[in-house]
Amino acid sequence: MNLCVVGLQWGDEGKGKVVDILAEKADIVCRYSGGANAGHTVIVGDTKFALHLMPSGAVRPQTICVIANGVVVDPAVLLEEMADLEQKGLSLKGRLYISHCAHVVLDYHKLEDRLREESLGAGKIGTTARGIGPCYADKAGRSYALRMADLLDISVLKPKLQNIIDYKNKLFSTLYNTRLIQVDEIYQKCLDYNKKLSPYICNTTEFLHGAIGQGKTILFEGAQGSLLDIDHGTFPFVTSSSVSALGLGSGCGVPPQKVQRFIGVVKAYTTRVGSGPFPTEQDNEIGWHIRDKGHEYGTTTGRPRRCGWFDAVAVRYSVAIGGINEIAMMHLDTLAGLEELKICQTYEIDGRQTSFFTADAGQLAKVNCVYQTVPGWKEELDETNRFDDLPAAARNYVKTVEQIVGVPIKMIGIGPRRTQVIYR
Ligand code: GDP
Ligand code: IMO
Ligand code: MG
Repeated sequence: MNLCVVGLQWGDEGKGKVVDILAEKADIVCRYSGGANAGHTVIVGDTKFALHLMPSGAVRPQTICVIANGVVVDPAVLLEEMADLEQKGLSLKGRLYISHCAHVVLDYHKLEDRLREESLGAGKIGTTARGIGPCYADKAGRSYALRMADLLDISVLKPKLQNIIDYKNKLFSTLYNTRLIQVDEIYQKCLDYNKKLSPYICNTTEFLHGAIGQGKTILFEGAQGSLLDIDHGTFPFVTSSSVSALGLGSGCGVPPQKVQRFIGVVKAYTTRVGSGPFPTEQDNEIGWHIRDKGHEYGTTTGRPRRCGWFDAVAVRYSVAIGGINEIAMMHLDTLAGLEELKICQTYEIDGRQTSFFTADAGQLAKVNCVYQTVPGWKEELDETNRFDDLPAAARNYVKTVEQIVGVPIKMIGIGPRRTQVIYR
């Protein structure tokens, strides 16, 4: 039984924690989209891991980790993460597989990301500045791209890099009047990446299909959230890869027919980092209460997250496009202390009601939310593992969301730890 865990909102839903819990029964955990823009938090005992590129299965010493072709790999970040894991006693030798087809994020991508955002001023996307957009743009453009396989072949690496950097320097100096990038500096770094990463670079598609043939259990770990998907998200305020469940096939070469469970992760409310429309946003005491109580600050950039009510219109859409058959709802505990709670069930746009989400950012910016209001609860929730022990209002909240979204909520998070979860 293979499974896929994917965010149904704008990221940071708690995927890291859910993957960590489900990885107990998986042989392999595979990342298929995004790059070091992701920040997945896993807490094991007293140790906190913030994983950006490494699949969250890495915190379990026996779990095999795959970084598939759809991911853009920043080798500097990856090596840092690998060193941190090793230092915490988690060796990766023999259990990390990195696709030779994955594209490489280098310093000039990060520079381009920053320069482009600065030039946009107020119209910026609010990226994580991890070079994600420029690297995926080079991938789609093909002529100036570098893949992990290129790091293996030193004889062609230097001329390839020279060609790319000549082009980038022309571009950057014309558009941004910036200092030139030195090819030798980047080449030396690539030699180091070659030395340290070569043992892990391979054909992950072959590896995954071999594992499926042997009856191994694979957990596919989504990054970001479906509403940040390049095609189906709130463009242009999205990331640059296929981060909904639809990206799984192209991101790792395994068709969805091989995956039996599609688990969508949501927060009991909504958060978003960066720019873009957010219909249920509460930039007021309610939003600030949620941010404080839920520690809503970005794992990758530390930026405060924008907070708001649960948007069932948006989640229903992510469920529909992703073929989601069960939901894990995190952060129910964070809602304690609010007198009443609102769930957006319909949008009103230009006086017309619709229950289907629109990925058109202009339309979304005009949405008036039609809410269902339910009572809140005062009690803290972090002491129980039984649904029936929850306050009646908390149970009612979960059941109301479940009914409006139309998919069973099978896991409920009541705190950041592995153990703070209720199964239904
Ligand atoms: P991801 O990107 O989807 O993996 O999520 P992040 O790790 O960026 O953000 C989720 C945050 O919520 C992390 O700090 C988690 O430790 C924390 N978290 C996860 N589940 C729960 C929960 O049920 N309750 C609370 N209070 N925190 C949670
Ligand atoms: P995880 O996996 C939340 C957002 C950025 C920005 C937009 C584009 O931790 O859920 P990018 O750097 O990708 O070009 O930024 O996407 N974003 C995320 N927001 N969680 C993430 O990942 C995100 N990855 C990117 O804030 O708005
Ligand atoms: Mg995150």
